[in-house]
Amino acid sequence: MSGLLEVSGLTVELPTPRGWVRPVNDVSLRIAAGETLGLVGESGSGKTMLSLSLMGLLPTGARVSGEAWLTPTESNGAGARQNLVALREKEWRAVRGGEIAMVFQEPMTSLNPVMPVGAQIAEAIRAHNAQLTSDEVQRRTIAALRRASVPEAEDRAKQFPHQLSGGLRQRVMIAMALAAGPRLLIADEPTTALDVTVQKQVLALLDRLRREMGLGMLFITHDLGVVAQVADRVAVMYTGRIVEQGPVREVLTRPRHPYTKGLLAASPTLERGKLDPIPGAVPQLTALPPGCAFEPRCQWRREDCVTAVPALRAVDAGGEQHSARCVLV
Ligand SMILES: Nc1ncnc2c1ncn2[C@@H]1O[C@H](COP(=O)(O)OP(=O)(O)O)[C@@H](O)[C@H]1O
Ligand code: SF4
Ligand SMILES: [Mg+2]
Repeated sequence: MSGLLEVSGLTVELPTPRGWVRPVNDVSLRIAAGETLGLVGESGSGKTMLSLSLMGLLPTGARVSGEAWLTPTESNGAGARQNLVALREKEWRAVRGGEIAMVFQEPMTSLNPVMPVGAQIAEAIRAHNAQLTSDEVQRRTIAALRRASVPEAEDRAKQFPHQLSGGLRQRVMIAMALAAGPRLLIADEPTTALDVTVQKQVLALLDRLRREMGLGMLFITHDLGVVAQVADRVAVMYTGRIVEQGPVREVLTRPRHPYTKGLLAASPTLERGKLDPIPGAVPQLTALPPGCAFEPRCQWRREDCVTAVPALRAVDAGGEQHSARCVLV
């Protein structure tokens, strides 16, 4: 599998009244075409900030360093890779939607409430294909809705977002995100607000589209149980850093970082009887403990946990590409 996205040492810094914070801190990951990487962590771990940095949508004043190499489509630049960290706004306009697209937890953040959904999808297609005739744009709009399993696509295209159910709105948002044929889809908690049945349908839809379109997917959730359903590999994030990473089955059956073990015990989706929440709370980025950031909540902490941030180390020989950031590994 070819490397579609290769991120290394990605760091995002934001100014706050109490100094600079790093919601994304030295993150390295890769996603191949046709592969889903699950990104998991509690609220405030930096998942959204990481995805916004890959879309060029960070808040003003943000500083970004490190590298994020994207291999573009053949039609879009003869195989030259682009470092997203170095793009200017003009270059982002071609990448955003054209190469990388994003769907959010709340469809209304991406849908315009006063425009029929078909017109919005047509706009997304035209933004990346100015040469197309309006007949061809219309044809592709309906095809995009059908591909996302929106029933009666011609009729639905004329409706406004508020006329659609939550599940249908999510399908329309996915259709719009994929309308211009991106290669990488970032899905940020796309099913968190949906009930279990609709959630399952949307997960199945994303999985089918990944296969059909050969998409690379970054699937963000706070629930390791959802990751188990959709991802090939998983990265666990805490206070901006990746603390464990590996093939999904390996990480779920043999978690090595105490934080990953905590997330597993707290997952509402994995049927394990009673939920066991992780004690304490994610620390403020302005007041991170020295050494391991999970130390105040960790039942296995020892003296050397506070002296330095543990390195991300490979987990024994058997676990290929499985690594964890803990002194016990
Ligand atoms: N504009 C901002 N300025 C400073 N800090 C921010 C800003 N937006 C979010 N943060 C902080 O960045 C951290 C990561 O947030 P976020 O990426 O939204 O986490 P997640 O998506 O994992 O819930 C949080 O500690 C949050 O408080
Ligand atoms: S480094 Fe120490 S405090 Fe941190 S997770 Fe490992 S054992 Fe717990
Ligand atoms: Mg988020």
